[in-house]
Amino acid sequence: MAKILVTGGTGYIGSHTVVELQNSGHEVVIIDNLSNSNIEVLNGIEKISGIRPAFENIDCVDYVSMDKMFEKHQNIKAIIHFAASKAVGESVQKPLAYYRNNLVSLINLLQLMPIHHIENIVFSSSCTVYGQPDQLPVTENAPIKPALSPYGNTKQIGEEIIRDTIHANPNHYQSIILRYFNPIGAHPTAEIGELPNGIPNNLLPFVTQTAIGLRKQLQVFGNNYNTPDGSAVRDYIHVVDLAKAHVLAVERMLMNKTKNTVEIFNLGTGRGLSVLEIINTFEKVTGVKVPYRIVDRREGDIEKVWAEPGYANSELGWVAHETVEETLRSAWAWELKLAEKGKHE
Ligand code: UFG
Repeated sequence: MAKILVTGGTGYIGSHTVVELQNSGHEVVIIDNLSNSNIEVLNGIEKISGIRPAFENIDCVDYVSMDKMFEKHQNIKAIIHFAASKAVGESVQKPLAYYRNNLVSLINLLQLMPIHHIENIVFSSSCTVYGQPDQLPVTENAPIKPALSPYGNTKQIGEEIIRDTIHANPNHYQSIILRYFNPIGAHPTAEIGELPNGIPNNLLPFVTQTAIGLRKQLQVFGNNYNTPDGSAVRDYIHVVDLAKAHVLAVERMLMNKTKNTVEIFNLGTGRGLSVLEIINTFEKVTGVKVPYRIVDRREGDIEKVWAEPGYANSELGWVAHETVEETLRSAWAWELKLAEKGKHE
């Protein structure tokens, strides 16, 4: 039982992680500036776990407010740092906003941690750091490739900032860096899920919004990749599976089970699925058609990537359990819930 700070805790992955932390008996403090999430998420969390987490509307970029927050919420044992901007295309348009938001927030946390006697931080990274890997499935030891967007670069630089900081102060910090593959789906209760702002960039929200009639047609970006059906391949992972890995990561640090002051884990299923496979499976499990057409490749897209999750399986004791069928069903149940609540008007 420990008090955990979750930055970005009302966001998509953050909210699912808060629920899993609570289910494991931990006390959660959320900070979020609600720039890409909604305060009502707290109601969803409370409905699932029966506990309303402490919440502070703070921007992690604001050092003074963060310092005050740590004064107010004493005895935090670990931080899970989700809060970040994450739209790849937008990051190309607004690089400075991305570098400021994603890097200054991390630097603030790392500066404030020793002042407030906090040693442990989990960092949300991404398989984007591997670019197009030379070998698949990709392991944690694969080389880091030049980032294809400022967003991707903030994840690479974020990892380096953590490594350098801990190298200089190995007695004051430890960190687990989690490299996510493609999180999709929603909590099985459909009380929380992904809430994209405007037109979705990611595949799954676009699929569910097209299925429900909010969008006329899904565009499949490319069918001439070197993959079995020509569409791009990703490792799609249920967001609840992903959330559970964060609980294990925090507990691993708190119980001093880490082997290094910085550890890196891939969080994926080890299974690659193409865009067309996702569409077909979605149609099969929901019985709902998804109108789509093939268009040109999207700039900056990787052809294929999927994880070697063996290290997370053996060392973290974590395995992605959910089937893709169940995961897609949960995404659809969430879209239906949004419609029922009138969130589409
Ligand atoms: N896709 C479509 N049509 C759409 C949206 C997506 O065909 O309308 C395709 C993409 O071309 C890609 C696949 O679906 O082949 C998945 O695309 P997403 O945008 O859902 O996910 P990405 O793999 O491109 O990006 C995700 C995260 C990024 C992260 C990246 C690598 O959204 O934040 O993985 O880690 F950088």
